[in-house]
Amino acid sequence: MREIFFESKHYSALVFENEGDLARYAARIVVEQMKNKPEFLLGLATGSSPIPFYKELIREYQAGNISFAKVNTYNLDEYYPIDPTSPQSFLVFMRENLFDHIDLPEKAIHIPRGDAPDAEEEARRYQRELNRTGGTDIQILGIGSDGHIGFNEPGDAFIYDTHVTELTRRTIEDNSRFFEDVSQVPTHALTMGIGGIMNARTCILIATGKNKAQAVHDALKCDPAPACQASVLQFHRNTVFLLDEGAASLL
Ligand code: GLP
Repeated sequence: MREIFFESKHYSALVFENEGDLARYAARIVVEQMKNKPEFLLGLATGSSPIPFYKELIREYQAGNISFAKVNTYNLDEYYPIDPTSPQSFLVFMRENLFDHIDLPEKAIHIPRGDAPDAEEEARRYQRELNRTGGTDIQILGIGSDGHIGFNEPGDAFIYDTHVTELTRRTIEDNSRFFEDVSQVPTHALTMGIGGIMNARTCILIATGKNKAQAVHDALKCDPAPACQASVLQFHRNTVFLLDEGAASLL
């Protein structure tokens, strides 16, 4: 593992030789913190990037090193509209990749509802849930190839609260690999806003692969601006950027 420092910036990035090492490093941060606080508030992300990390968490649970019995989880986002039982929903993704393999109680799962009758009302309801937490202990993040975190897409502003968002063409194309074809990808989503993410005490951003290199570059080296939403993390007090060589190739 090597560390990249950025001139006049307070953060650095850790670059790993392989996904396994990266996932184990991320899991160790979470496990150490969870051991000290059983009532842990864990913010979660979907996408391919955190899957090896979730495998590590499951391994730690199976080894008896951690329990999720008193944990609450808060997911970043969900497509809208989507049937929460459909294979492409983020809820099913989380069940398959983490929830079904650990002792997390069903009532401890928090995620925007893709089948809520009114999207705006659902955004407000989810925000109220987040407000009750006062911020998660750790927020896991991936990054979109357009620099999005959660589904906070590039735009003119950073949006603080949970909101309905229109997905960019690029995001729809990137995520079409999970659907039969691109026309099946929902055009909208409900996402935790930048405020919910920034309120986490620690953020762990995982980025792997060359297709993330530009977004990672803009997030870490450009002045924070809503054109690259992940760049706001430069203002976060404790964000750990975990990359592979591909994602770090433009730094
Ligand atoms: C998804 C999620 C993001 C995720 C990003 C990258 O659709 N909304 O939270 O970070 O897109 O996904 P991947 O890791 O598959 O590249």
